[in-house]
Amino acid sequence: MSIAPLYDLTAIRADFPILSRPIRGRPLVYLDNGASAQRPHAVINAERRYAEESHANVHRGVHTLSQRATDAFEGARERVRRFLNARSTREIIFTRGTTESINLVAQSYARPHLQPGDEILVTRLEHHANIVPWQLVCEATGARVVVVPINDRGEVDPEDVRRLLSPRTRLLGIAHVSNALGTILPVAEMIAIAHAAGVPVLVDGAQAVPHLTIDVQALDADFYAFSGHKLYGPDGIGVLYGRESLLAAMPPWQGGGDMILHVSFEGTTYNELPYKFEAGTPHMSGAVGLAAAIDYVEAIGLSKISAWEAILLTHATERLSRIEGLRFIGTAHHKAGLVSFVVDGIHPHDLGTILDERGVAIRTGHHCAMPAIATFKVPATARASFGLYNTLDEIDALADAVVYARDLFR
Ligand code: ALA
Repeated sequence: MSIAPLYDLTAIRADFPILSRPIRGRPLVYLDNGASAQRPHAVINAERRYAEESHANVHRGVHTLSQRATDAFEGARERVRRFLNARSTREIIFTRGTTESINLVAQSYARPHLQPGDEILVTRLEHHANIVPWQLVCEATGARVVVVPINDRGEVDPEDVRRLLSPRTRLLGIAHVSNALGTILPVAEMIAIAHAAGVPVLVDGAQAVPHLTIDVQALDADFYAFSGHKLYGPDGIGVLYGRESLLAAMPPWQGGGDMILHVSFEGTTYNELPYKFEAGTPHMSGAVGLAAAIDYVEAIGLSKISAWEAILLTHATERLSRIEGLRFIGTAHHKAGLVSFVVDGIHPHDLGTILDERGVAIRTGHHCAMPAIATFKVPATARASFGLYNTLDEIDALADAVVYARDLFR
């Protein structure tokens, strides 16, 4: 297929050293970006440079390296603030990832607010990270999780959110993009509906930030969570954006160094935002790498990345839909670059194993979204998730490998 990429794909691919490593003697076709994206030299080098030239502990030392490390770490926070268009760096908390960000909100914002009979509203397509933290605080408080349904395309109707909001709803938790189905949710509309009922909203943006431009002020999100490693950055680093007025009123959720102003056995006072939520030594090189990843994707342009991924999605949908016995799971009108599917007669794990023998990396299973997958009455799916460096030829390699696997099992 000969559609010109929207940027120099050959040069971009050369930026990612792992993409040129053969897998099982074949060229790697990496289509598991939804699980974790690969890193460019710019990110790898930024982390290495930090370790070689600037590393010490942050916020603690008067010596030169500690100040350099602090500048690098706080510079990364400012980079994240601009990326999300948050009002202030006081609203940017570094965490280990999306999961920790959501647990922080569950324990520090929700738990103190919840009474028996209160409700947390989530959709059926959520990742377990946006289900289980709410179940934990509900178990502890006597509140309950209420579920917004999805239709047979894997879409959420915002009117269902309006219908299920009640005077007992204390928070709405929604994915921006479904990791299992690819659905892009109308989060701005859902947030407006929740706010009209006085309900704050947490958005799980893990699968959105690599593909869409995010503006937390335009969305009017109260909390927005994402991970570095899905954004071509390091693992073990993530972000919680929180509206300052909410964060200021929340108690710390972990205690330790750096989150305090003064400690005595008579009583301890806590540090200002955002440090109140960052107990202990943070992942400094991770934050530096995350800032480099943001620089990298923004230099290409998120609008160009999402336009290219839409072309990949159209091509994948077209190629795979020609395969007899293949059924898509998740056919939303508004989708990110991801296809989930099952093939008659082959368990997705067998399919994934055969594809791996041909160098094609996909994810198989329930994708940490069991309720979403169960809605379609399948135990698992095969999922190919695209990134900014994928090519149309790689989509063809995926389709050819699926046909090969299907024919093996016939
Ligand atoms: N949440 C990641 C995925 O969707 C791991 O694969």
